[in-house]
Amino acid sequence: MRVYHTKDADRRVLKNKSIGIIGYGSQGRAQALNMRESGVVPLIGLPSRSRRRRVARADGFTVTTTRRLVSRSDILLFLAPDHLQGTIFETEICPDLRSGQMLVFAHAASVHFGAVRPPTGVDVVLIAPLGPGKRLRELFRQKPGVACFFGVFQDASGRAKKLGLALVAAIGCLRTGAIETTFAEEAVGDLFGEQAVLCGGLARLLKLGFDTLVENGLSPEKAYLECVFQIDLIVDLIKSGGIAGMLQRVSQTAARGAIANGPRIIDERARLSFQKIYREVESGGFFTSLVNGAPNGPIDYGRLTDAVFERAARRIGRMLGDRNA
Ligand SMILES: NC(=O)c1ccc[n+]([C@@H]2O[C@H](COP(=O)([O-])OP(=O)(O)OC[C@H]3O[C@@H](n4cnc5c(N)ncnc54)[C@H](OP(=O)(O)O)[C@@H]3O)[C@@H](O)[C@H]2O)c1
Repeated sequence: MRVYHTKDADRRVLKNKSIGIIGYGSQGRAQALNMRESGVVPLIGLPSRSRRRRVARADGFTVTTTRRLVSRSDILLFLAPDHLQGTIFETEICPDLRSGQMLVFAHAASVHFGAVRPPTGVDVVLIAPLGPGKRLRELFRQKPGVACFFGVFQDASGRAKKLGLALVAAIGCLRTGAIETTFAEEAVGDLFGEQAVLCGGLARLLKLGFDTLVENGLSPEKAYLECVFQIDLIVDLIKSGGIAGMLQRVSQTAARGAIANGPRIIDERARLSFQKIYREVESGGFFTSLVNGAPNGPIDYGRLTDAVFERAARRIGRMLGDRNA
């Protein structure tokens, strides 16, 4: 696995390059602010009806439409929602895109699954931070900051990697490291990881554990403390020592019980479900349904939870903070 660090980038290659950021959401805002503090001032492209125009202007950026941004920029960071990227590309980017420009994605799915087909004269690069924009911003000045995946899909100019690594340095991800990858690996790995494990699977595991204790008479607050609150401590142990290292550091009771009961919960049926989800992701079926289905309505953020859990999370958050450390 190749990992790039600060010494691998030459930020001077960005001199005289105009940089445009399409979108000013989680990633757009954080990357724009980090870049400016690194000495690179981007322009922002947003629809004329966007409420975030006011936020970007209040942050001191010049805001224009996406079409004008494309005409004015050498490098375009495409930080709009993934399910809209195909349409935005066709209608607002493609008409003004020129050979010699560079397109940067923060997630590879649109390109890998064919929603966006960049023309051959354009450099196409992936810079996918391993964390949300808020975290990228918070850790900008700290060491370690946020790492990222980095990959080149198309190198029309012969300088795509150099320019890309200079951008990675400007948003603050090179101090920790840019991990080399391909668009195919990132598109499939990221979608699978977030839906099966990090966001979908984990949320469901925590909620079911919580429900079991509440159904059997524990107060929601105590159930939350037992099943959810210490999750960051366990994750920290896994990140520093692996699963075996974590088990060595918890009590013998916890380790013995975990070894006996973990596989009873995440069992053979769960393994088959993981495989099924992987195939849906890999085939492009999930992404296609996301693109086709997403405009149909707002996301129901309460779908994986209920009021009892949310109230307990808020109460414990107020009482003890959101970290146990
Ligand atoms: N968030 C993360 O944790 C994370 C982490 C790594 C990578 N990524 C990737 O980063 C990219 C951006 O995600 P995000 O989470 O930052 O998205 P987001 O928070 O939903 O923000 C998207 C931004 O795009 C704007 N937008 C919508 N249509 C547009 C158009 N036609 N022209 C210009 N801007 C437009 C939105 O405008 P409005 O404000 O008006 O809605 C919004 O400001 C995605 O590829 C995502 O996979 C995200």
